[in-house]
Amino acid sequence: MKVAVIGANGQLGSDVVYAFSSAGDSVQSLTHADLELAEMEAVARVLGKLRPDVIVNTAAMHNVDKCEQEPAKAYAVNGIGSRNLALTANELAALLIHVSTDYVFDGNKRTPYEETDAPLPLNVYGNTKLAGEYYVRSIAKRHQVLRTSGIYGKQPCRAKGGLNFVEIMLKLAREKGKVRVVDDEFVSPTFTAEIAEQIVALSRSELNGLFHGTAEGSCSWFEFAREIFALTGTKVVLEAAAPGEFPAKVPRPKYSVLENRMLKSHGLNRFRLWQDGLRRYLDVGAGSAPSESPLASAAIGPEA
Ligand SMILES: NC(=O)c1ccc[n+]([C@@H]2O[C@H](COP(=O)([O-])OP(=O)(O)OC[C@H]3O[C@@H](n4cnc5c(N)ncnc54)[C@H](OP(=O)(O)O)[C@@H]3O)[C@@H](O)[C@H]2O)c1
Repeated sequence: MKVAVIGANGQLGSDVVYAFSSAGDSVQSLTHADLELAEMEAVARVLGKLRPDVIVNTAAMHNVDKCEQEPAKAYAVNGIGSRNLALTANELAALLIHVSTDYVFDGNKRTPYEETDAPLPLNVYGNTKLAGEYYVRSIAKRHQVLRTSGIYGKQPCRAKGGLNFVEIMLKLAREKGKVRVVDDEFVSPTFTAEIAEQIVALSRSELNGLFHGTAEGSCSWFEFAREIFALTGTKVVLEAAAPGEFPAKVPRPKYSVLENRMLKSHGLNRFRLWQDGLRRYLDVGAGSAPSESPLASAAIGPEA
C-alpha cells in the first residue's frame, strides 16, 4: 500500500512511518513544511500528487495552553484541517486514519470511557479535536478515528519542544533527587511504537468508525513515576503532590482512561499493560524509530 503520514517527524508520526515501512508498505512522509493542514488547496494538491491508498493524520495543534490562547488557529488546524483531509481522502478513494485524544471527555467518570460514552471537552484543545473527529466521521467514506492518551515516544514531542514524561522524571531525579507528582489524575500511558503498530493492524481491516486505542490498565501520574523509577533502579525521593498543589491554567480531565472496546470486539486489540509498554520503551524501544537526540531540551508536561 501507499501510505501518506502527516506529522511524519512528530513523536507519534515517526513511529507510524517506521511501523508501516517495517510492514513493507511504501511510505510518504509529510511534515508541516510539506503541507499546512488548515489550507484546503495545499492538502488537495500535495496528496493529489502522491495518490496514497491510506492517509494517516498524526498532526495537530495540541499544546493545551496555546490552543486556549489561539482558539481560531486551533480550530483551523484540528477542526478544518481534519475536514480538508476527509474531503481529499474521498477524492482519492483513500482510507483516512485520524488520531484523536482522551481530552474529548470531561473526566467525571470513574470507570474507563468507551466509544459510546458522550464526549464533553473541558477546553479549546478538546473541543477542536472533537470537531475534527466529527468532520472525519461525517465526511470521509472510509475512516478510522483512533483516540489515544498519555503518549510518550523515542522522538521528542514537537508541540511541547522536548522531553516526554518519562525523561522529565528521570531528569528531575538526577538533578534534584526529589520529585513531587500529582496523584489525582488518571491516564493510560501509551508508548507511541505500540500505537503505530495498532494503526498498521487497523489499516489492514475493512473497519470504519471510532476506536479507543491505549495501553491496558491505568495509573495516576504519581504511580507512573513510581514505575519509571522502579524499572530504572533510580534512587529518588518520590512524593505525591497535594491536590491543587500544581494548578493547571486550563482545565483538564482528572480521569481520562479509555477502554479499547471496539478494537476488542473485532479481535484487533494489540495493546498490552501500560507497564509492559514502559518496559519496552526503557529497553531502548525495540520497534520504535531510532532516536535522533534523546534528552534533547527543556522539560514539558503530560498531554499537551
Ligand atoms: N501528546 C499526548 O500526550 C497526546 C495524547 C492524546 C492524543 N494525542 C494526539 O496524538 C497526535 C500526535 O501527537 P505527538 O505528540 O506526536 O505530536 P508532535 O510531536 O507535536 O507532532 C505533531 C506533528 O504535527 C505537525 N503539525 C502541527 N500543526 C500542523 C499543521 N497545521 N499542518 C501540518 N502539520 C502540522 C507538527 O509539525 P511542526 O512541529 O513542524 O509544526 C509535527 O510534525 C496528535 O493528534 C495529538 O492530538 C497526543
